[in-house]
Amino acid sequence: METLGIIERYRDFLPITEKTPLITLKEGNTPLILATNLSKKLGADSYEIYLKFEGLNPTGSFKDRGMTLAVSKALENGSKAIMCASTGNTSASAAAYAAKAGMRCIVLIPSGQIALGKLSQALMHGAKVIAIEGNFDDALNLVKEATKQYPITLVNSINPFRIEGQKTAAFEIVDELGEAPDYQFMPVGNAGNITAYWKGYKEYCDKGKCVNLPKMMGFQAEGASPLVKGTPIKNPETLATAIRIGNPASWDGAIRARDESAGAIDSVTDDEIIEAYKMLAELEGIFCEPASAASVAGLKKFLFQKKLEKRIVKLRIVCILTGHGLKDPERAILTIEKPETIQPTLESLNKIL
Ligand code: F0G
Repeated sequence: METLGIIERYRDFLPITEKTPLITLKEGNTPLILATNLSKKLGADSYEIYLKFEGLNPTGSFKDRGMTLAVSKALENGSKAIMCASTGNTSASAAAYAAKAGMRCIVLIPSGQIALGKLSQALMHGAKVIAIEGNFDDALNLVKEATKQYPITLVNSINPFRIEGQKTAAFEIVDELGEAPDYQFMPVGNAGNITAYWKGYKEYCDKGKCVNLPKMMGFQAEGASPLVKGTPIKNPETLATAIRIGNPASWDGAIRARDESAGAIDSVTDDEIIEAYKMLAELEGIFCEPASAASVAGLKKFLFQKKLEKRIVKLRIVCILTGHGLKDPERAILTIEKPETIQPTLESLNKIL
């Protein structure tokens, strides 16, 4: 069977015409994995916990869902170049899809603050990478100004086609479960993704594909939690560099998703993020990046605080794992004890086994 990318699979739900060129790396179709070991560890017998592993997209993050559409539409509209600010994943994705489309790609990144895997992707795909002495929010402001001045398409999630593409992840979850989950836990940075999922669930229910909507549970890193504090943060700090953002562009979208779904937006500490990051790798065989683990850290926090509803039937919880752990190998190595080195003899080996 032919592999379909998200535009081909969900054409009827996307702003596509016969004239839209199809720039795809066959993104989407990511697995929804039942997390039985994690569930046991968290003492969550009253729930079915699923992990949507978005790290298995072509460039290793959920950004590909939005980028296939944003780049296809940019090409349709005659654009020759795209530009974004990024904590890493957007730039990796933009660079790859621009390469496929034969377009120029310019990315602005906060200097010294993006994971090495992501930087290497953007460079390998031939993007013009510019590091700025500032954070993501500064970079995004600059991109907004620059794209007003030059004929370059902005492909951050303030580009509505990004949100349109990303909403397809909600469709996949409903298609697989036969209904929307009861809760969805996810990390929040610039807040495009929570906005996209909520739009996706609502649209799919409107079209009769589901009856219920999930409670949207978004988690920011404590040192970068403007939505929780209710005010932008000038110097956001967290080791989860993907969500090191102080003034999310889709602020209103996130608040709407929370309020309309009777969900929550809360924060988790870096220690809680690392604990969840290790738990996923050790118990479920899933290596995601630290920012992604904020979803599971949030779930653990809410289970511990007994803040989740219980029913006689098991409620279904989906945690979104937004990016692959191999993006940031340095963090993994810093987190885990280094391997021992021994002489190549059975005697030495016996000593440690
Ligand atoms: N998880 C990962 C792995 C991310 O890269 C991001 C955002 C998020 C979660 C948060 O998603 O911004 O839609 O709320 N990364 C952006 C980037 C900012 O530039 O790659 P969001």
